[in-house]
Amino acid sequence: MTLPDTAEVAIIGAGAAGLMAAIFAGREAARVVALDGASRLGAKILISGGGRCNVTHHEVTANDFHGSRNAIAKVLRTFPVAETVDFFREIGVELKHEESGKLFPRTDRAATVLDALVRAARDAGAAIVTGARVDAVEQVAGGFELHTTAGTVSARRVIVATGGRSVPKTGSDGRGYELVRRLGHSVNGTFPALVPLVMAESHWTRRVSGTSADVELTVTSSSGRVLERVSGAMLCTHFGVSGPAVLDVSRHWIAARRADDGAGLAVNFLPGESPESIDRELLDASRRNPRATVSSALRGRVPDRIIDAIAPEGPIARLTRDERKRAARELTAQPLPVGRDRGFDYAEVTAGGVPLEEVDLRTMESRKAAGLYLCGEILDVDGRVGGFNFQWAWATGRLAGRAAAVGFASLHGG
Ligand code: FDA
Repeated sequence: MTLPDTAEVAIIGAGAAGLMAAIFAGREAARVVALDGASRLGAKILISGGGRCNVTHHEVTANDFHGSRNAIAKVLRTFPVAETVDFFREIGVELKHEESGKLFPRTDRAATVLDALVRAARDAGAAIVTGARVDAVEQVAGGFELHTTAGTVSARRVIVATGGRSVPKTGSDGRGYELVRRLGHSVNGTFPALVPLVMAESHWTRRVSGTSADVELTVTSSSGRVLERVSGAMLCTHFGVSGPAVLDVSRHWIAARRADDGAGLAVNFLPGESPESIDRELLDASRRNPRATVSSALRGRVPDRIIDAIAPEGPIARLTRDERKRAARELTAQPLPVGRDRGFDYAEVTAGGVPLEEVDLRTMESRKAAGLYLCGEILDVDGRVGGFNFQWAWATGRLAGRAAAVGFASLHGG
């Protein structure tokens, strides 16, 4: 598809939010063009959810996100999950619920989602141009001029759906922030979220790579105040730790560290238990059976490989009181000396971005430049693992697409 000279609505970025915007703008019969810098569309959708695309969650609330919760709730209400499921069915994607609450396409293939979105956008009359990276957006009389690597387009309205900075090789390299900054927006400091954490080379987690445990992770300030608690699976890997609980806690650990050098992360391999309760259990176990070991006393509750890596060997009865107490602490309140996060190359999403106060949440129109709209991950909202980030992209893309096509006045009656 070649670049048209003019458009009613030009969308920068044809990822999750941009394709949604293209569908809903196109359905209002405007001349719509979606421009993407990548040569292949939807790389991020294709790698999402382990190649299966976790499209949404059976229950989505503002509490599943970080950012201005009232504002987020207002946006989410415009596109409830039931409507999202109906929308995907309408474009040919049947979704199935999994026990975790996550919704995936029945085919278990992310390509089903991408193909359906692209088809729906084209059916709605939207043109999609790949290999057209937008380098500058200028506000001119009657609209905007977009300078792209494939030429220049004039558009009455522009939707910015350039995503964040996570996995930049997919095309979302943070350029969008620069574009909107030049149009008067601010950008709250960005950092990786839903990102694995790297441990020192000698740390035991690396030696038990491949082992997963249900844990509770706690972020504390240097004064010991609990800042966040997250429960779920932690996976030990060749570089450190990953898995849903680690991904969910990562943005809290990173945010805490940005503010406080002494902030820390601790793991409890026996959620609900404390050093004291486990110490009592170990003592009771050794009284019942003098040959009981930490490993045998807790069999089935913590993976053997992890117990072997962190607990003393031999009968509990032979441990000193301090050694036994230390073992109980290592199992329930073990500090994890994280070296660093794995960075944007491995982050699923970007924390920070354009503050929600800078857009009208009914339409996603910029409060800084009339006729400019923002949607998706470029905004300062990030969700936990489970389909929430896509739900944000679908909801905001739909609002922006509609509003940009029909104009605010006709949407709201004046
Ligand atoms: P997105 O990044 O999808 O799209 C932005 C588009 O803009 C890209 O196509 C890019 O090429 C283009 N672009 C950028 N700058 C441009 C410019 N200057 N000119 C032209 N084009 C430009 N979420 C979820 O809910 N469920 C899941 O299963 C997963 N899984 C997952 C796995 C992995 C590995 C990652 C990295 C991420 C996820 N996510 C996820 C997160 C989810 O993919 C993400 O939040 C959304 O794709 C964001 O949608 P956007 O449309 O805002 O940006």
